[in-house]
Amino acid sequence: MAFVSIKEAMKKGKGKVAIRGWVYRERGSNKFKFLVLRDSTNIIQVVLKHEKFEKDWEQIDKLQIEASVEISGEIKEDKRAPTGYEVEADKINIVGESKDFPINKDLNEELLGDRRHLWLRSRKMTAAMKIRSTVMFAMHEYMHKNGFTEIEAPSLSGAASEGGSEVFETKYFDKKAYLTQSWQFYAENVIHSVGKAYAMAPSFRAEKSKTPWHVTEFWHFEVEGAWMNLNDDMNVTEECIVYAIEKVLKENLAELETLGANIEMLKKVKAPFKRITYSDAIEKLKEKGHKIKEGDDFGSAEERSLAKYYGNKFVFVTNYPLGLLKFYHGEDLKKPGTGTNFNLLAPGVGEMVDGSQREPDLNKIIERLKKAKIDLGASDWYLDSRRYGSVPHSGFGLGLERFVAWICGFDTIKDAIPFPRTPTRIYP
Ligand code: 4AD
Ligand code: MG
Repeated sequence: MAFVSIKEAMKKGKGKVAIRGWVYRERGSNKFKFLVLRDSTNIIQVVLKHEKFEKDWEQIDKLQIEASVEISGEIKEDKRAPTGYEVEADKINIVGESKDFPINKDLNEELLGDRRHLWLRSRKMTAAMKIRSTVMFAMHEYMHKNGFTEIEAPSLSGAASEGGSEVFETKYFDKKAYLTQSWQFYAENVIHSVGKAYAMAPSFRAEKSKTPWHVTEFWHFEVEGAWMNLNDDMNVTEECIVYAIEKVLKENLAELETLGANIEMLKKVKAPFKRITYSDAIEKLKEKGHKIKEGDDFGSAEERSLAKYYGNKFVFVTNYPLGLLKFYHGEDLKKPGTGTNFNLLAPGVGEMVDGSQREPDLNKIIERLKKAKIDLGASDWYLDSRRYGSVPHSGFGLGLERFVAWICGFDTIKDAIPFPRTPTRIYP
């Protein structure tokens, strides 16, 4: 008999089925052994009767959690069973034993981290990984449907792209190399060829800050388009986010339910998102009692709160003071001294996307670099994008884990990536 998933077996609901998976829970007496079996799709109760399995009872009785088994038997509805169905086994094949599976509810975060490869078997992490996969796929799909070309950039680079102290340095034969922080410099050159480009790739940040919203290796969804202005940039950002959320709602309802995610909130996400300026945001924060003034950068608590103050929805904040921005962000000539930039803030998470219409003028960029005392050094090639046929262009970077964590309702992005890398964890 062909094996079916637990989900398919439950859909069938009656008659003979063959299923396989891992023991999720077990209890027994000398008459019965109850297993809750899990596979990637769901869990189901299985009952084995001693009278049927007298010969193999010793092994069956010894079965522990996370042993792998194949079962065939009769499925029927049973309201007392955890997921409403029970399989009465008439055959069992113990495929792989499991002795003293080293995960239990008493483990602290550190020990769970050590056993991450095993903790990924939990229903929570299984659901999170499936949702993450859907989000990734949806973003690729949205980009392809809208004429963006996927462009890969190297992870190893001869110079630090975004600069600053947050870059990992590594030996590169007799030279130094740096792990990429962003694809943007490559993209701003490549759009003179393909027009609209995107990437989904890891970025590395040597950030010592141990917050729930930072990892040292995150997946960066980055987009860049020639002839796109700030408005176009925000439109693409929100459409793509909405597209991914709709796909998750369509394909991962069961996973969202497993996680207890806020499905009603997800259904309400619609474009366009609210757009406010940095100055509006400062006013709002002051009104709410935050000690902040024009010119200050937002702290993460402020970012996390801002979206809440605006109806607990995504909010674009534009026009940050140039002093807070990087040299490549353009200046808004209608609001001099402020950038053609945005941060998209998500309720509870804070900054989820960072984007801008870039400064297209070579001389202005050189001036800004001088002012910020940045020497592009080996990255000077970046400026060729402004030397040879510079065009208005825009782009953004979205932290995939922050988006997935927001969808799942997690309070840390560490659960939105299978093997998180943090300042204190580089294994498993
Ligand atoms: O704000 P960031 O640093 O912007 C850039 O790197 C631009 N070059 C992007 C671009 O315009 N192409 O990073 C972009 C996003 C942030 O908004 C955040 O969501 C995420 O990347 N991010 C991190 N996520 C997890 N852990 C970290 N340490 C992160 N640093 C940034
Ligand atoms: Mg940023």
